[in-house]
Amino acid sequence: MISPNKKAPTNNADLINRSRASVWHPCTQMKHHEDFPLVPIASAHGVWLTDVEGKRYLDGVSSWWVNLFGHTNNRINLALKTQLDTLEHAMLAGFTHESAVELAERLNRLTGLGHAFFASDGASAVEIALKMSFHYWRNVGNAKKQKFVSLAGSYHGETLGALSVTDVAIFKDAYQPLLHNNIIAPFPTAISHHDDFPCCVECADEAADALEQLFALRHHEIAAFIVEPLVQGAAGMRMYHPRYLERARALCTQYKIHLIADEIMTGFGRTGTMFAWQQVAAPLPDFTCLSKGITGGYLPLSCVLTTDDVYAAFYDDSSARGFLHSHSYTGSALACRAALATLDIFSDDNVITANANNAAIFTSLCAPLRTHPRVNNFRHLGMIWALDIKTASANFSRQFFAAALQRGLLLRPIGNSVYFMPPYVIDAAIFQWLVDETIAVINEIS
Ligand SMILES: Cc1ncc(COP(=O)(O)O)c(C=O)c1O
Repeated sequence: MISPNKKAPTNNADLINRSRASVWHPCTQMKHHEDFPLVPIASAHGVWLTDVEGKRYLDGVSSWWVNLFGHTNNRINLALKTQLDTLEHAMLAGFTHESAVELAERLNRLTGLGHAFFASDGASAVEIALKMSFHYWRNVGNAKKQKFVSLAGSYHGETLGALSVTDVAIFKDAYQPLLHNNIIAPFPTAISHHDDFPCCVECADEAADALEQLFALRHHEIAAFIVEPLVQGAAGMRMYHPRYLERARALCTQYKIHLIADEIMTGFGRTGTMFAWQQVAAPLPDFTCLSKGITGGYLPLSCVLTTDDVYAAFYDDSSARGFLHSHSYTGSALACRAALATLDIFSDDNVITANANNAAIFTSLCAPLRTHPRVNNFRHLGMIWALDIKTASANFSRQFFAAALQRGLLLRPIGNSVYFMPPYVIDAAIFQWLVDETIAVINEIS
């Protein structure tokens, strides 16, 4: 809403200039915007974002992997409007409210884990899981367990704790002196060996063998193993075989190491099941981190769910044994209400089954991409499609991004990996258009 004294921007340049003068944009070298314009969004509906001058962009990445049921979704809007008139926010320390409780109960039933600890962004959920794991071991008399293991290429967020279990050089290198010295285990490499998911079982076994050696040697100092189940998002939609997680789960139990499933990207249907872990034939993780799609892409909300065993280790007369972590907006009533509306859509519309049917159609529409001479490693899981471009130039990803925008397409390749992660409300005709335009961009740039 524009304040009465301010006129709504009427052209793109106005808003771009004001933004460059006042906003420090995330994940951006701001100088690049001297010759690479920001896209000034005025409104959005369904799968489309619209700029100030009326040009539409297909949101092919669900606005950083958060949007599920389209922008300005009527059902989520309505739930939020009702919540706004009832309770916008109340602190969750010493107080509670219906939307946080109902959401915790429903997530508990969906994940099999309980006692939802709420926060705002994905990285804060990761911080919480890491702290809880460390503090659990301390509470049970094993204070030497202070290290965390993550996979090569992992991405768990960019606050200092989360960054210290992330393995993406461009986000991490500058801050290395500030980070904990955690341990990186080999990724169950697959995409260079096999075209399609499910990928290489031998790769899963090799990497699990390496994890076993690491645990055998250092288990006494390892608190937890944190992992993005089935797909590493920020590493370029790298998919791997569930067998790796089955073995990792068994090894974690054997060596008394927590397993933290970071389902921040994979949760809420992205990989074809409500949570990726449901495709793993193994007991539950000790912690699950959720965020992104949890509110349908509306509001910042994240959550850590854990076992009764972990919860019980903090339950005591002593405050120091409690988990005293907090954020001001923990359990925001509005964000929880958006999440409840999102869960309602999942159940009312039988979304997981509908997505499976649509995904089969969409994958068949990808045939010309899959066989394109510049395409390698086409892969697909649930509502994610990805491929690598052969002989891509050093600035391929920026060139692709710019050329796609020209055509009204929001896609942000990671290195030479192009991926589609659209809102679930995309239909076959628009998906076809997405494929056609992507091929046109691949043909037009180096
Ligand atoms: C697997 C995973 N974990 C954590 C995060 C961090 O979430 P946020 O950006 O909300 O802090 C992300 C973000 O992309 C992610 O993909």
